[in-house]
Amino acid sequence: EQDDRVSLVEMGPRDGLQNEMIPLSLPQKLELIRRLGESGLQRIEVGAFVSPKRVPQMADSAALLAALPRGAIAGRPPVRYGALVPNLQGLQGAIAARVDEIGLFTACSDGFTRANIGISVEESLVRFAPLVQEARRLGIRVRGYLSTVIGCPFDGPTSPKRVAAMAERLFDLGCHEISLGDTTGIGTPGTVVPMLDAVLREIPAGRLAVHFHDTYGQALANLMPALERGIRTIDSSVAGLGGCPYAPGASGNLASEEVVYLLRGLGMQTGVDLDILAATGQWVSEQLGRPNASRVGQALAAR
Ligand code: HMG
Ligand code: MG
Repeated sequence: EQDDRVSLVEMGPRDGLQNEMIPLSLPQKLELIRRLGESGLQRIEVGAFVSPKRVPQMADSAALLAALPRGAIAGRPPVRYGALVPNLQGLQGAIAARVDEIGLFTACSDGFTRANIGISVEESLVRFAPLVQEARRLGIRVRGYLSTVIGCPFDGPTSPKRVAAMAERLFDLGCHEISLGDTTGIGTPGTVVPMLDAVLREIPAGRLAVHFHDTYGQALANLMPALERGIRTIDSSVAGLGGCPYAPGASGNLASEEVVYLLRGLGMQTGVDLDILAATGQWVSEQLGRPNASRVGQALAAR
């Protein structure tokens, strides 16, 4: 029954909000994260220690982490708070903010990596090596994000072999988990399956996560082959919020509500209360003044 348990990594406060024109205030972010925790989510990515000039929406990440409740709430194990880190300055900020887990992020393609963090893929791996060592020395878990696993808005399609080689290199650096990102949501099972199979020849399913954007409405379809192959960690975003400001054409993440509804239908366990999650998605959509992008959220709100 261990195999029936799935862990969601909630992207709403980070990937979800980094692309919003009007940023949520600190109290609104705190309320969002409180509600997400109340729904039963155990891992929440809450911010990014990146340049505030590049992503102003994440500028309050340190203040946010300082204000977040820590420890067990209502008998539940403490929520693990994650944040993105692009370089040493970001790592120092994340350590000072007592982040539980950092996410280093690079990609399969130079075009996106240069647009996103200003360096090549090879340079990013050189930069990351000492960061992983330092984080691990301090007992902070390191997740490695690998973007453009299907294709790049600048460089075109990515080969499965390339993804497997890059995933292996991040894994060998000491990342405990590799999150495979279809940054612009262009994949279908036709391209996702060969990609997953290539990566799974190098890395066990238990160390992989999938991070699908839903730009073309394929994210849920792409999730199925990942589940069938034993991947049990899923990145998703409440109300389907999300998108990368440096990936032209990227829209929201796969909605967390869709993931929980699907898994419940498959008889798998997430530990997430769908009603609380959906109400949170409805609430945050109202705060942002945008329609709720989760179909499950819309359906439940109309009941
Ligand atoms: P840079 O400008 O190339 O580098 O930024 P720099 O080192 O020359 O620094 C320039 C200025 O930035 C300096 O300030 C630094 O202090 C400051 P100034 O002297 O001009 O006042 N700076 C920082 N400030 C705060 N925190 C830091 C930091 N580092 C430098 N850590 C940098 C390089 C990487 C910082 C920049 O390009 C950046 O912040 N990029 C942001 C990228 C980003 O956040 N993208 C979105 C997240 S990735 C994503 O969404 C994909 C994902 O979801 C997976 C998927 O979907 O595929 C994860
Ligand atoms: Mg993303």
